[in-house]
Amino acid sequence: MNKKQTELLAFDKKHVWHPYTSMSNPLPSYLVESAEGVHIQLASGEKLVDGMSSWWSVLHGYNHPKLNEALIEQTKKMAHVMFGGLTHEPAINLCKKLIDITPKPLQKVFLSDSGSVSVEVAIKMSLQYWHSQGKSEKHKLLTVKNGYHGDTFAAMAVCDPVNGMHQIFESVLMKNVFAPAPQSDFFQPWDDSELIALENLFAAHHHEVAAFIIEPIVQGTGGMRFYHPQYLQACRDFCDKYNILFIADEIATGLGRTGKMFGCNWANISPDIMCLGKTLTGGYMTLAATLCTDEVANTISNGEAGCFMHGPTFMANPLACAVANASLELLATGEWLQQVSFIESFLKEHLLALNSHSRVKNSRVLGGIGVVETFDAVNMETIQKRFVELGVWIRPFGKLIYIMPPFISNTDELTLLVTAISTVLDEAPCFL
Ligand SMILES: Cc1ncc(COP(=O)(O)O)c(C=O)c1O
Repeated sequence: MNKKQTELLAFDKKHVWHPYTSMSNPLPSYLVESAEGVHIQLASGEKLVDGMSSWWSVLHGYNHPKLNEALIEQTKKMAHVMFGGLTHEPAINLCKKLIDITPKPLQKVFLSDSGSVSVEVAIKMSLQYWHSQGKSEKHKLLTVKNGYHGDTFAAMAVCDPVNGMHQIFESVLMKNVFAPAPQSDFFQPWDDSELIALENLFAAHHHEVAAFIIEPIVQGTGGMRFYHPQYLQACRDFCDKYNILFIADEIATGLGRTGKMFGCNWANISPDIMCLGKTLTGGYMTLAATLCTDEVANTISNGEAGCFMHGPTFMANPLACAVANASLELLATGEWLQQVSFIESFLKEHLLALNSHSRVKNSRVLGGIGVVETFDAVNMETIQKRFVELGVWIRPFGKLIYIMPPFISNTDELTLLVTAISTVLDEAPCFL
């Protein structure tokens, strides 16, 4: 690395906070120079195949000509205007597209800044929905263990209470109701015995519960677990039976990643409220959406407050909306279906083979997601360095080495990812 790059990294280490990272003893960060297609170019010279899609967000690859063009064209018109009292074509077009591709009952769209904020918005919608009907006692959330919904306060309060990374804030978080994590595996025959405990909680708490929130089909950060669609279907049924709103957090699963457009599609259900984020702009910019039914929106709007009590400064940022429109247009070609199916078959053939490795507890694949769960936790510093040496960008956590590559990944690129995983499994220093 040259002098400037070394200085940049030194400053970064001393002053720049990274996600879930110590400032006094940070693990190294790698300086990125550029990214193109599925490749991340490091300043130190390595060109890495990206296995993470920058945390589920990059669908069509980095530096995509169509997404670049949408952004450049929008920049010529306006980068931003406030959304209070003003509106614009990029936002209107985006909301039209979202209403078209999501389940039919979802007719109203609230745009916001990030996934966590869209979860805050969804939770606030559910609380205001009941408040508007004079039922403020319905102010809790019901959810399942092992969930992850973001890092802001209401979102933290529905993450797994023990493993959800937010335990130290417990005393100030909303007191919600937690059901056991879904047990029936996506690929195993459905066993409805777990529904007894779940329904008992709905029955015992419905009078104080505003909404049930869940990540459809895939519990992501809470363990990369794939659960049975019939479990999701049952959750919808219980919400109807016990008069509780259903919030689907599709921030990670939405827009094709599981092989269907939305996780909810596996169970043919429609939520009352749906959160989208991450890949909404094809991984270009931060933008999220919370969609809801006419009934939810009208009840809130006809209530005491007369409006929904939320309004971020950068709501519906035109640049973000323009690039989201371009990304959704690429999805609308339908090519993603073959792309995800290709990734899925490749990973089923090559990643599932790692199940026989003595270090592997279980490997699993769904759509464009591949997971290798190990018996021992990874040694983050060693394994990250090794992956870089092996030419890939994979960022495991705990006992989970997982990939969700950009949809455009080809055989050679996927081979490099799987080979790198298989290589580190043989290297003891990569594990604790
Ligand atoms: C299911 C789910 N919900 C919410 C979030 C939070 O999104 P953001 O990091 O954009 O705030 C995430 C992020 O990983 C997520 O996976």
